[in-house]
Amino acid sequence: MCGIVGYVGPKKAVPILVQGLKRLEYRGYDSSGIATMNGEGPIFVHKRAGRIREMERSLPSPLPSTSVGIAHTRWATHGPPNEVNSHPHLSSDGSVAVVHNGIVENSSTLKKMLRSEGVVFRSDTDTEVIPNLVARFYEGDLEAAVKKALHLIRGTYGIVVMSTAEPGRLVVARNGSPIVLGVGDDEMYVASDAPALIAHTRQVVYLGDGEVATLDSDGFRTTDLEDREIDKQIDEIDWELEEIEKGEFPHFMLKEIHEQPRSILRGLRGRFEREYGDARLGGLNLTPREFFDIRRITLVACGTSYHAALAASYVLEDLARVPSNVEIASELRYRNPIVDAKTLYLAVSQSGETADTLAAMKEVQRKGGKVLGIVNVVGSTIARQSDGGIYIRSGPEVAVASTKAYTSQLLALVLLALKIGRMRDVSAGEGRELLEALEALPEQLRSVLDEGEQAMTKLAGELAHAPFVLFLGRGINYPTAMEGALKLKEVSYIQCEGLAAAEMKHGPIALISDGTPVIFLCPMDQLHEKTLSNMEEVKARKGRVIAVGNPGDERVQALADVFIEVPRTHPLLSPFLMVAPLQQLAYHTALQLGRDVDKPRNLAKSVTVE
Ligand code: AGP
Ligand code: GLU
Repeated sequence: MCGIVGYVGPKKAVPILVQGLKRLEYRGYDSSGIATMNGEGPIFVHKRAGRIREMERSLPSPLPSTSVGIAHTRWATHGPPNEVNSHPHLSSDGSVAVVHNGIVENSSTLKKMLRSEGVVFRSDTDTEVIPNLVARFYEGDLEAAVKKALHLIRGTYGIVVMSTAEPGRLVVARNGSPIVLGVGDDEMYVASDAPALIAHTRQVVYLGDGEVATLDSDGFRTTDLEDREIDKQIDEIDWELEEIEKGEFPHFMLKEIHEQPRSILRGLRGRFEREYGDARLGGLNLTPREFFDIRRITLVACGTSYHAALAASYVLEDLARVPSNVEIASELRYRNPIVDAKTLYLAVSQSGETADTLAAMKEVQRKGGKVLGIVNVVGSTIARQSDGGIYIRSGPEVAVASTKAYTSQLLALVLLALKIGRMRDVSAGEGRELLEALEALPEQLRSVLDEGEQAMTKLAGELAHAPFVLFLGRGINYPTAMEGALKLKEVSYIQCEGLAAAEMKHGPIALISDGTPVIFLCPMDQLHEKTLSNMEEVKARKGRVIAVGNPGDERVQALADVFIEVPRTHPLLSPFLMVAPLQQLAYHTALQLGRDVDKPRNLAKSVTVE
């Protein structure tokens, strides 16, 4: 949700700001705007409700030739999504402009105070108190005025502030909403996420909560709210610009589905030791003794990440022989959880910004629990809040519907399970067997995806008219069934349900009528026979059986109305291959229904509000 871009340097600011906002569009927003200044005259502000292209299209010509500016895409929390409420917001005297991601929880109290001092508010937003507080405290030092303002503010923020009093400067601050600085040659950038920076620089600095940075064309300085200097490390963006562009694909979702062979390879690279049949994972910050003392693993996540965590829990129990359970983050955080010293907690999150997952991990940590982050976005809030963790390296995931992150999360968790397992009962030989199967996945995935495209397009034509679709799986493919249902429902808006196959007879079988499509995940594993029986039950009620199975499985092929073939693999790895056709099916069904595939209605890429 929402996005921030800022620039100070020798170049024209407006094109940089607008292009940067477009790189953040995937985060979801309802309006956008920019503000620039050139050291003389008033701050130029231009903003519009709706898409960025509306704001861009209505820019004046010629563009202001300014080289300092800030920009914003808004996801409204206070005040309707309209032009006057969009950002940037100015102080009432016009001297200070601010863009803000987050919520000022005590904005009404601050508004009352400022109104009593003669401030006139133009918008309904909470944000507008910020520029007015900064103007109120300004006595010749913009950074100091911002810090004074922030001491009065309660809530979350990622902000960029500029003032006519100090035209070559931006002041940036973060508390709960991500902010990353881009370090250029004689220029500085700032954004809420690295995709807005990659076209200009790979050198980035992730701001932490409670930190303030002052940027000018010579560089940046970071301090805390008490003015103590903070030394920040400059990191390197490790993915390519083309990864956040569609390239030859019509949509990011399809591109990211097909990127999975590459993202699995990247997630595997340098992370195992073939000789010992073991995983090699840095950054866990756990000693062998601490690993040895783990008696339980609790995974915490939302949505697709929850499904990846659920699938991983089967691997952790089967391979690492560690009892594992999975919690929906929003449920755990409000349940006054019992935190056990011998339980290791794993927060699983693609964006690293999901508010419920972050809050749940903070609650666990508050009670002394150790939390590892299984995260995609480097420097994200959950990654920084964690006591250690694994970056899943799937590369930027732009489409709202998570696909490659799902398989990359599962891969990272399988490697963690192998590492723990090899400290327990798993032999080197068993470890090597699993590693060989992992190394075969990219090629197997590639063939499934290449061969599946046409078949899934055809099947999508059928599903597009279904009022309801049921997904059924057993064991480690029960989460696959849930993920398949979530994928289809969130991009096509068709009602779907993903269930443990045996659960069908405890109620949901009542939903089966003539032609109801039921999608079975049925690898030739130890639950094969049981799943076959479930297929018979659906057939007997004239349901339409669509089965994802392995080559040579004649019994499933005979029973299924539609048979989708995926190669056999290690029993614990079948979800990697079973989920791929379901992702393609969701994509093509949504396409045939004319949905906004990359940005489905009501959804945002990272849910940073509770
Ligand atoms: C998945 O397709 C959805 N976009 C959503 O369920 C997502 O997985 C969930 O919001 C969790 O996001 P996270 O992995 O960034 O924490
Ligand atoms: N709370 C602010 C508003 O409603 C900022 C919302 C956002 O993060 O985009 O304008």
